[in-house]
Amino acid sequence: MVCLGNICRSPLAEGILRSKTKKAGLNWEIDSAGTSAHNVGCQPHKLSQKVARLYNIDICNHKCRHFTKSDMDTFDKIYVMDAENYRDAIRIAGNKWNDSKVDLLLNELYPGQNRDIFDPWYGGEEGFYQVYNMISEACDAIIEEKKEL
Ligand code: 4NP
Repeated sequence: MVCLGNICRSPLAEGILRSKTKKAGLNWEIDSAGTSAHNVGCQPHKLSQKVARLYNIDICNHKCRHFTKSDMDTFDKIYVMDAENYRDAIRIAGNKWNDSKVDLLLNELYPGQNRDIFDPWYGGEEGFYQVYNMISEACDAIIEEKKEL
């Protein structure tokens, strides 16, 4: 799960998908990272922690890390939150870029529409709840697909 800061959206997405995979009995390795190195080592945003906690998901132990070229090898699938993250991931991945591994998370719900999950960093608390719901529905779709395989 990749966003810009690895502070608001992607730590939430990591926590949500991990929780849902555990409930579904899937043993997946899930992680998150940011395309900016600005906040490396920081905890998730207080409001991401708060909304996650309301759904019994604890993300307070996550430490922000920078998305790296080697993540392209480590992970089978990489979800980005918006078009800017997608462009930044292409730049960071360089010759390791693999188009078939990377997608916008909301394409799981709205295939091919390339919709963004907006950045709640610049708004109020309500945005974090909206982002939570979008991510949660997209993660349900990921797990549903997996069950059909
Ligand atoms: P995120 O949000 O990409 O969802 O983690 C942001 C977090 C931090 C900053 C920007 C966006 N920032 O400018 O530090």
